[in-house]
Amino acid sequence: MLNIDLKGKKAFIAGIGDDQGYGWAIAKALAEAGAEIIIGTWTPLLKIFTTSWAQGKFDESRQLSNGKKMEYLKVYALDAAFDKPEDVPQEIKENKRYVDAAGYTISEVAAQVAKDFGKIDILVHALANGPEVKKPLLETSRNGYLAALSSSSYSFVSLVAHFGPHISADGSAISLSYIASERVIPGYGGGMSSAKAALESDTRTLAWEAGRKWGIRINVISAGPLRSRAARAIGFIDSMIEYSKANAPLAKDLTAEEVGQSAAFLCSPLAAAISGVTLYVDNGLHAMGIAVDSPALHSEPQSQCCGAQA
Ligand SMILES: NC(=O)c1ccc[n+]([C@@H]2O[C@H](COP(=O)([O-])OP(=O)(O)OC[C@H]3O[C@@H](n4cnc5c(N)ncnc54)[C@H](O)[C@@H]3O)[C@@H](O)[C@H]2O)c1
Repeated sequence: MLNIDLKGKKAFIAGIGDDQGYGWAIAKALAEAGAEIIIGTWTPLLKIFTTSWAQGKFDESRQLSNGKKMEYLKVYALDAAFDKPEDVPQEIKENKRYVDAAGYTISEVAAQVAKDFGKIDILVHALANGPEVKKPLLETSRNGYLAALSSSSYSFVSLVAHFGPHISADGSAISLSYIASERVIPGYGGGMSSAKAALESDTRTLAWEAGRKWGIRINVISAGPLRSRAARAIGFIDSMIEYSKANAPLAKDLTAEEVGQSAAFLCSPLAAAISGVTLYVDNGLHAMGIAVDSPALHSEPQSQCCGAQA
Protein backbone atom coordinates (compact mmCIF):
# COMPACT_ATOMS: atom_id res chain seq x y z
CA MET A 1 0.00 0.00 0.00
CA LEU A 2 1.25 3.48 -0.86
CA ASN A 3 1.04 5.73 2.16
CA ILE A 4 2.81 8.70 3.66
CA ASP A 5 5.31 7.45 6.22
CA LEU A 6 7.26 10.09 8.11
CA LYS A 7 8.23 7.91 11.08
CA GLY A 8 11.64 8.94 12.39
CA LYS A 9 11.39 12.39 10.78
CA LYS A 10 11.48 15.67 12.71
CA ALA A 11 9.62 18.76 11.56
CA PHE A 12 10.07 22.35 12.71
CA ILE A 13 6.91 24.38 12.14
CA ALA A 14 7.26 28.15 12.42
CA GLY A 15 4.02 30.06 12.95
CA ILE A 16 1.73 28.13 15.29
CA GLY A 17 -0.11 30.37 17.75
CA ASP A 18 -3.34 28.39 18.21
CA ASP A 19 -5.22 25.43 16.71
CA GLN A 20 -7.04 27.39 14.01
CA GLY A 21 -4.43 28.07 11.34
CA TYR A 22 -2.60 26.28 8.56
CA GLY A 23 0.52 25.77 10.71
CA TRP A 24 -1.45 23.69 13.19
CA ALA A 25 -3.15 21.67 10.44
CA ILE A 26 0.22 20.95 8.82
CA ALA A 27 1.72 19.92 12.17
CA LYS A 28 -1.20 17.58 12.71
CA ALA A 29 -0.95 15.98 9.27
CA LEU A 30 2.80 15.48 9.75
CA ALA A 31 2.13 13.95 13.18
CA GLU A 32 -0.53 11.67 11.64
CA ALA A 33 2.18 10.47 9.24
CA GLY A 34 4.46 9.72 12.19
CA ALA A 35 6.74 12.78 12.26
CA GLU A 36 7.87 14.38 15.52
CA ILE A 37 6.87 18.02 15.88
CA ILE A 38 8.93 21.00 16.99
CA ILE A 39 7.16 24.36 17.15
CA GLY A 40 8.22 27.98 16.70
CA THR A 41 5.64 30.37 18.17
CA TRP A 42 5.74 34.15 17.77
CA THR A 43 7.39 35.46 20.95
CA PRO A 44 4.42 37.60 22.11
CA LEU A 45 2.09 34.58 21.84
CA LEU A 46 4.32 31.94 23.42
CA LYS A 47 2.94 32.18 26.93
CA ILE A 48 -0.70 32.10 25.91
CA PHE A 49 -0.04 29.22 23.50
CA THR A 50 1.77 27.03 26.05
CA THR A 51 -0.74 27.90 28.78
CA SER A 52 -3.68 27.08 26.53
CA TRP A 53 -2.02 23.77 25.58
CA ALA A 54 -1.34 22.91 29.24
CA GLN A 55 -4.91 23.80 30.22
CA GLY A 56 -6.25 21.38 27.63
CA LYS A 57 -7.80 24.02 25.34
CA PHE A 58 -6.38 22.27 22.27
CA ASP A 59 -7.10 18.71 23.44
CA GLU A 60 -9.89 18.10 20.95
CA SER A 61 -7.79 19.45 18.06
CA ARG A 62 -4.80 17.38 19.16
CA GLN A 63 -6.68 14.10 18.70
CA LEU A 64 -4.99 11.81 16.18
CA SER A 65 -6.66 8.95 14.33
CA ASN A 66 -4.62 6.37 16.28
CA GLY A 67 -6.31 7.49 19.51
CA LYS A 68 -3.25 9.39 20.77
CA LYS A 69 -2.91 13.15 21.05
CA MET A 70 -0.44 15.17 19.01
CA GLU A 71 2.58 16.09 21.15
CA TYR A 72 5.49 18.40 20.52
CA LEU A 73 9.14 17.79 21.36
CA LYS A 74 9.69 21.45 22.23
CA VAL A 75 8.23 24.87 21.54
CA TYR A 76 10.57 27.82 20.92
CA ALA A 77 9.87 31.54 21.06
CA LEU A 78 10.51 32.87 17.55
CA ASP A 79 10.33 36.30 15.98
CA ALA A 80 11.00 35.74 12.30
CA ALA A 81 11.41 39.47 11.70
CA PHE A 82 14.88 39.25 13.26
CA ASP A 83 17.89 37.21 12.15
CA LYS A 84 20.31 37.83 15.02
CA PRO A 85 20.20 39.39 18.50
CA GLU A 86 21.75 42.68 17.39
CA ASP A 87 18.83 43.18 14.95
CA VAL A 88 16.29 43.46 17.79
CA PRO A 89 15.47 47.10 18.59
CA GLN A 90 15.76 48.17 22.22
CA GLU A 91 12.04 48.95 22.49
CA ILE A 92 11.18 45.38 21.42
CA LYS A 93 13.71 43.89 23.85
CA GLU A 94 12.07 45.89 26.64
CA ASN A 95 8.50 45.19 25.54
CA LYS A 96 6.66 43.30 28.27
CA ARG A 97 5.88 40.42 25.91
CA TYR A 98 9.58 40.01 25.01
CA VAL A 99 11.46 40.96 28.14
CA ASP A 100 11.41 37.46 29.68
CA ALA A 101 12.17 35.71 26.39
CA ALA A 102 15.62 35.05 24.97
CA GLY A 103 17.11 33.47 21.89
CA TYR A 104 14.09 34.15 19.65
CA THR A 105 15.87 35.40 16.51
CA ILE A 106 16.08 33.04 13.54
CA SER A 107 19.81 32.29 13.85
CA GLU A 108 19.49 31.58 17.57
CA VAL A 109 16.45 29.31 17.18
CA ALA A 110 18.09 27.36 14.33
CA ALA A 111 21.27 26.87 16.38
CA GLN A 112 19.30 25.82 19.46
CA VAL A 113 17.14 23.35 17.52
CA ALA A 114 20.33 21.82 16.03
CA LYS A 115 21.84 21.60 19.52
CA ASP A 116 18.68 20.04 20.99
CA PHE A 117 17.79 17.62 18.21
CA GLY A 118 20.58 17.43 15.62
CA LYS A 119 19.25 17.33 12.07
CA ILE A 120 15.65 17.98 11.23
CA ASP A 121 13.92 16.76 8.06
CA ILE A 122 11.10 19.20 7.46
CA LEU A 123 10.88 22.98 7.80
CA VAL A 124 7.50 24.69 7.59
CA HIS A 125 7.02 28.47 7.31
CA ALA A 126 3.40 29.18 8.25
CA LEU A 127 3.60 32.83 9.19
CA ALA A 128 2.89 36.25 7.77
CA ASN A 129 2.48 39.75 9.08
CA GLY A 130 1.64 42.99 7.32
CA PRO A 131 1.02 45.89 9.72
CA GLU A 132 -0.76 47.89 7.00
CA VAL A 133 -2.61 44.97 5.39
CA LYS A 134 -5.89 46.88 5.49
CA LYS A 135 -4.48 49.77 3.45
CA PRO A 136 -4.54 49.76 -0.35
CA LEU A 137 -1.08 49.54 -1.91
CA LEU A 138 -1.33 53.18 -3.01
CA GLU A 139 -1.71 54.23 0.63
CA THR A 140 0.91 51.88 2.06
CA SER A 141 3.95 53.50 3.66
CA ARG A 142 7.49 52.42 2.83
CA ASN A 143 7.87 51.10 6.37
CA GLY A 144 4.62 49.15 6.19
CA TYR A 145 5.57 47.61 2.84
CA LEU A 146 9.06 46.64 3.99
CA ALA A 147 7.68 45.22 7.25
CA ALA A 148 5.31 42.97 5.27
CA LEU A 149 8.19 41.76 3.08
CA SER A 150 10.47 41.32 6.09
CA SER A 151 8.07 39.25 8.21
CA SER A 152 6.31 37.39 5.45
CA SER A 153 8.95 36.74 2.76
CA TYR A 154 12.51 37.38 3.88
CA SER A 155 11.69 35.34 6.99
CA PHE A 156 11.47 32.25 4.75
CA VAL A 157 14.79 33.02 3.04
CA SER A 158 16.40 33.45 6.46
CA LEU A 159 14.82 30.29 7.91
CA VAL A 160 16.07 28.23 4.97
CA ALA A 161 19.54 29.84 5.17
CA HIS A 162 19.89 29.17 8.90
CA PHE A 163 18.19 25.77 9.11
CA GLY A 164 19.61 24.53 5.77
CA PRO A 165 22.84 23.10 7.22
CA HIS A 166 20.73 21.28 9.82
CA ILE A 167 18.23 19.70 7.41
CA SER A 168 18.86 16.12 6.34
CA ALA A 169 19.79 15.52 2.69
CA ASP A 170 16.36 14.17 1.70
CA GLY A 171 14.60 16.94 3.63
CA SER A 172 12.42 19.78 2.44
CA ALA A 173 10.96 23.16 3.32
CA ILE A 174 7.57 24.62 2.48
CA SER A 175 5.78 27.91 2.97
CA LEU A 176 2.24 29.18 2.42
CA SER A 177 1.19 31.68 -0.18
CA TYR A 178 -2.07 33.15 -1.44
CA ILE A 179 -3.44 33.84 -4.92
CA ALA A 180 -3.09 37.61 -4.27
CA SER A 181 0.54 37.06 -5.37
CA GLU A 182 -0.57 36.88 -9.00
CA ARG A 183 -4.18 38.15 -9.18
CA VAL A 184 -5.70 41.28 -7.68
CA ILE A 185 -7.51 40.69 -4.40
CA PRO A 186 -8.79 44.12 -3.31
CA GLY A 187 -8.44 44.41 0.48
CA TYR A 188 -5.27 42.31 0.71
CA GLY A 189 -3.04 45.34 0.94
CA GLY A 190 -0.11 46.83 2.79
CA GLY A 191 2.35 45.09 0.48
CA MET A 192 1.08 41.64 1.44
CA SER A 193 0.33 40.78 -2.21
CA SER A 194 3.91 41.81 -3.04
CA ALA A 195 5.18 39.70 -0.12
CA LYS A 196 3.41 36.61 -1.45
CA ALA A 197 4.78 37.25 -4.96
CA ALA A 198 8.28 37.42 -3.46
CA LEU A 199 7.66 34.24 -1.47
CA GLU A 200 6.72 32.34 -4.64
CA SER A 201 9.62 33.71 -6.66
CA ASP A 202 12.07 33.00 -3.84
CA THR A 203 10.75 29.42 -3.68
CA ARG A 204 12.15 28.82 -7.17
CA THR A 205 15.51 30.45 -6.48
CA LEU A 206 15.83 28.75 -3.09
CA ALA A 207 14.93 25.41 -4.68
CA TRP A 208 17.94 25.84 -6.98
CA GLU A 209 20.37 27.15 -4.37
CA ALA A 210 19.36 24.92 -1.44
CA GLY A 211 18.95 21.94 -3.77
CA ARG A 212 22.53 22.23 -4.99
CA LYS A 213 23.92 23.19 -1.59
CA TRP A 214 22.18 20.72 0.73
CA GLY A 215 20.09 18.51 -1.56
CA ILE A 216 16.86 19.73 -0.01
CA ARG A 217 13.56 20.54 -1.76
CA ILE A 218 11.72 23.86 -1.47
CA ASN A 219 8.04 24.29 -2.35
CA VAL A 220 5.15 26.62 -1.60
CA ILE A 221 1.43 25.93 -1.22
CA SER A 222 -0.92 28.59 -2.54
CA ALA A 223 -3.82 27.94 -0.19
CA GLY A 224 -7.44 28.99 -0.46
CA PRO A 225 -9.15 31.07 2.23
CA LEU A 226 -9.33 29.79 5.83
CA ARG A 227 -10.87 31.46 8.88
CA SER A 228 -7.60 31.61 10.85
CA ARG A 229 -6.78 34.23 13.45
CA ALA A 230 -4.55 36.12 10.96
CA ALA A 231 -7.21 36.01 8.24
CA ARG A 232 -9.94 37.20 10.62
CA ALA A 233 -7.78 40.22 11.45
CA ILE A 234 -7.72 41.26 7.78
CA GLY A 235 -11.48 41.51 7.93
CA PHE A 236 -13.08 40.00 4.82
CA ILE A 237 -12.30 36.31 5.18
CA ASP A 238 -15.95 35.21 5.35
CA SER A 239 -16.66 36.87 1.98
CA MET A 240 -13.58 35.19 0.49
CA ILE A 241 -14.76 31.78 1.70
CA GLU A 242 -18.23 32.41 0.30
CA TYR A 243 -16.75 33.65 -3.00
CA SER A 244 -14.64 30.53 -3.30
CA LYS A 245 -17.59 28.22 -2.75
CA ALA A 246 -19.63 30.15 -5.31
CA ASN A 247 -16.94 30.29 -7.99
CA ALA A 248 -14.37 27.51 -7.57
CA PRO A 249 -14.55 24.36 -9.71
CA LEU A 250 -15.07 22.38 -6.49
CA ALA A 251 -18.04 24.04 -4.77
CA LYS A 252 -17.23 22.87 -1.26
CA ASP A 253 -15.58 24.12 1.90
CA LEU A 254 -11.79 24.11 1.92
CA THR A 255 -10.55 22.58 5.16
CA ALA A 256 -7.27 23.24 6.91
CA GLU A 257 -6.83 19.44 6.97
CA GLU A 258 -6.78 19.34 3.15
CA VAL A 259 -3.94 21.85 3.12
CA GLY A 260 -2.20 19.93 5.93
CA GLN A 261 -2.39 16.69 3.96
CA SER A 262 -1.04 18.33 0.81
CA ALA A 263 1.85 19.69 2.88
CA ALA A 264 2.52 16.23 4.32
CA PHE A 265 2.66 14.86 0.76
CA LEU A 266 5.04 17.61 -0.39
CA CYS A 267 7.34 16.94 2.57
CA SER A 268 7.25 13.17 2.11
CA PRO A 269 9.37 10.80 0.01
CA LEU A 270 6.38 10.55 -2.36
CA ALA A 271 7.32 14.05 -3.59
CA ALA A 272 11.05 13.28 -3.82
CA ALA A 273 11.33 14.79 -7.32
CA ILE A 274 9.19 17.88 -6.66
CA SER A 275 11.00 21.14 -5.96
CA GLY A 276 10.43 24.79 -6.83
CA VAL A 277 6.66 24.45 -7.35
CA THR A 278 3.72 26.53 -6.25
CA LEU A 279 1.03 23.96 -5.49
CA TYR A 280 -2.51 25.34 -5.48
CA VAL A 281 -4.65 23.83 -2.74
CA ASP A 282 -7.76 25.95 -3.22
CA ASN A 283 -10.53 23.79 -4.67
CA GLY A 284 -9.30 24.92 -8.11
CA LEU A 285 -10.25 28.59 -7.69
CA HIS A 286 -6.95 29.80 -9.19
CA ALA A 287 -7.95 28.35 -12.56
CA MET A 288 -11.03 30.54 -12.97
CA GLY A 289 -10.98 33.60 -15.22
CA ILE A 290 -14.46 34.87 -14.33
CA ALA A 291 -16.68 34.95 -11.27
CA VAL A 292 -19.59 32.73 -12.26
CA ASP A 293 -21.82 34.32 -9.63
CA SER A 294 -21.34 37.79 -11.12
CA PRO A 295 -24.65 39.63 -11.70
CA ALA A 296 -23.26 40.56 -15.12
CA LEU A 297 -23.60 36.91 -16.14
CA HIS A 298 -27.23 36.54 -15.05
CA SER A 299 -28.59 36.75 -18.58
CA GLU A 300 -26.73 33.52 -19.42
CA PRO A 301 -27.06 31.23 -16.40
CA GLN A 302 -23.92 29.29 -15.65
CA SER A 303 -26.05 26.31 -14.77
CA GLN A 304 -26.16 25.61 -18.52
CA CYS A 305 -22.44 25.02 -18.42
CA CYS A 306 -20.76 21.81 -17.40
CA GLY A 307 -23.60 20.51 -15.24
CA ALA A 308 -22.95 23.11 -12.54
CA GLN A 309 -25.14 22.58 -9.50
CA ALA A 310 -28.11 24.91 -9.16
N1 LIG B 1 -5.97 32.00 6.19
C1 LIG B 1 -5.97 32.13 4.86
O1 LIG B 1 -7.01 32.38 4.24
C2 LIG B 1 -4.67 31.94 4.11
C3 LIG B 1 -4.72 31.71 2.72
C4 LIG B 1 -3.52 31.51 2.04
C5 LIG B 1 -2.32 31.57 2.71
N2 LIG B 1 -2.30 31.79 4.06
C6 LIG B 1 -1.00 31.84 4.74
O2 LIG B 1 -0.91 30.80 5.69
C7 LIG B 1 0.12 31.14 6.63
C8 LIG B 1 -0.42 30.89 8.03
O3 LIG B 1 -1.44 31.84 8.31
P1 LIG B 1 -2.88 31.46 8.86
O4 LIG B 1 -3.88 32.15 7.99
O5 LIG B 1 -3.00 30.00 9.06
O6 LIG B 1 -2.96 32.26 10.24
P2 LIG B 1 -2.37 32.01 11.69
O7 LIG B 1 -2.81 33.17 12.50
O8 LIG B 1 -2.69 30.65 12.19
O9 LIG B 1 -0.80 32.02 11.44
C9 LIG B 1 -0.01 33.15 11.30
C10 LIG B 1 1.05 33.02 12.37
O10 LIG B 1 2.13 33.90 12.09
C11 LIG B 1 2.67 34.26 13.33
N3 LIG B 1 3.56 35.41 13.16
C12 LIG B 1 3.27 36.66 12.74
N4 LIG B 1 4.39 37.41 12.73
C13 LIG B 1 5.41 36.61 13.13
C14 LIG B 1 6.79 36.80 13.33
N5 LIG B 1 7.38 37.99 13.12
N6 LIG B 1 7.54 35.76 13.78
C15 LIG B 1 6.97 34.55 14.01
N7 LIG B 1 5.65 34.31 13.83
C16 LIG B 1 4.89 35.34 13.41
C17 LIG B 1 1.42 34.57 14.14
O11 LIG B 1 1.71 34.60 15.51
C18 LIG B 1 0.54 33.39 13.76
O12 LIG B 1 0.75 32.31 14.66
C19 LIG B 1 0.48 32.61 6.34
O13 LIG B 1 1.63 32.67 5.54
C20 LIG B 1 -0.72 33.08 5.54
O14 LIG B 1 -0.43 34.20 4.72
C21 LIG B 1 -3.44 31.97 4.77
